[in-house]
Amino acid sequence: KLLVKNARQVVQVSGSRESVKRGSDMNNLQVLEGAEGGYSILVDRDGIIADLGPSREVEARHCSDTIDTVVDATGRCLIPGLVDAHTHTVWAGDRVHEFAMKLAGATYMDVHKAGGGIYFTVEHTRGATEDTLYELLKERLVRAVRAGSTFVEVKSGYGLDLDTEVKMLKVTERARQSLPVDISCTYCGAHAIPKEKTSQEATTDVVNVQLPRIKDLMSSKQLCVHNIDVFCEQGVFDVTQSRDILLAGKSMGLNLNFHGEELHRLHSAEMGAEIGALAISHLEEVSEEGISAMAKSGTVGVLLPTTAYNLRLTPPPARAMIDGGMAVALGSDFNPNAHCLAMPLVMNLACVTLRMTMSESLVAATLNAAHALGQSDRHGSLEVGKLGNMLVLDAPRWEHLIYQMGSHQDVISHVIWHGDVV
Ligand code: NIG
Ligand code: FE
Repeated sequence: KLLVKNARQVVQVSGSRESVKRGSDMNNLQVLEGAEGGYSILVDRDGIIADLGPSREVEARHCSDTIDTVVDATGRCLIPGLVDAHTHTVWAGDRVHEFAMKLAGATYMDVHKAGGGIYFTVEHTRGATEDTLYELLKERLVRAVRAGSTFVEVKSGYGLDLDTEVKMLKVTERARQSLPVDISCTYCGAHAIPKEKTSQEATTDVVNVQLPRIKDLMSSKQLCVHNIDVFCEQGVFDVTQSRDILLAGKSMGLNLNFHGEELHRLHSAEMGAEIGALAISHLEEVSEEGISAMAKSGTVGVLLPTTAYNLRLTPPPARAMIDGGMAVALGSDFNPNAHCLAMPLVMNLACVTLRMTMSESLVAATLNAAHALGQSDRHGSLEVGKLGNMLVLDAPRWEHLIYQMGSHQDVISHVIWHGDVV
């Protein structure tokens, strides 16, 4: 058992087992502060929060319990572990040279069409062994955890053929079984059109070849895949092809969680809302109709401020989304094009470039991100019955995590995962 004691401020995010916050409710953080002696949280041996409240009360209720670890949080703050709702973390071969090209004026699609971008990464990922990819993933996830993430979504999508996609999913499964971080695994075989195929052939391959194989591997427990993703974009998969792929995934029980409206307005937001997508990422180009459709269907908008920042795009209309009643979440979009694993920096960018408040950013990086992955019943807030995933912040108020940009390593004193200090 773990006891974190005497914190001056505990940001629960939610205290009522709600699964998501939308619109103006994103500014309602459940915060405990002001009690003499501070607040404590007890995590049981199964990694679940067993009690939380003013320290004196918690200690009185558990005075005869055996506690294995005590973390003294006097003068410090507690927040839920951060949830990164969108990453491409399994790949070999960096693209630092493309960063220079883009700084000199090349667009994302210029690089992609010239055979770079995703194609460059596909070539290197196809050539890498499972062990090499696992070591790379492990190193990246360790960095993500140090930056406060306790639950991370991880996509495939740099294989574009059956064998490499399965290799990526297996690497992700190995990490899910062995590393101190929770992982939501996403199949994104439709991330680009492989050079050897047309977009229609690629769609057929995903639906008729790759998905059935993944289904078999899931049945035999060799893989655990939670979500299906598609890059719905002009020149990649169009709205009809994306819909076909997503529906094939839905029939296997996967959550629909895809890339839409990033560079061109194709109205994939409306399509996603109509077929019951759990989440759509990017949305830089979403229309007002798309926002209303997503607000109505409850589809979460996963915003990725690093993309617009790195590519100098117009950022997604986060204010219109929140004010229009949508649930908004955040992700790092870690990938060779946006080499950022630090959710605290992503939250800072969300505040400055997307005009979100600090409270909205925290909800978006915890409860709503967990909801975008279908797991807000276990993650995203500090409540009895949820997982004991939390951060101890060496700061007088939690907002320092966002305010001290680029210094998360100095602000986060402990990352706690399932009741263990990691
Ligand atoms: O979310 N837009 C598509 N996928 C990634 C980029 C992947 C890559 O460039 O390797 C994204 O930004
Ligand atoms: Fe992405």
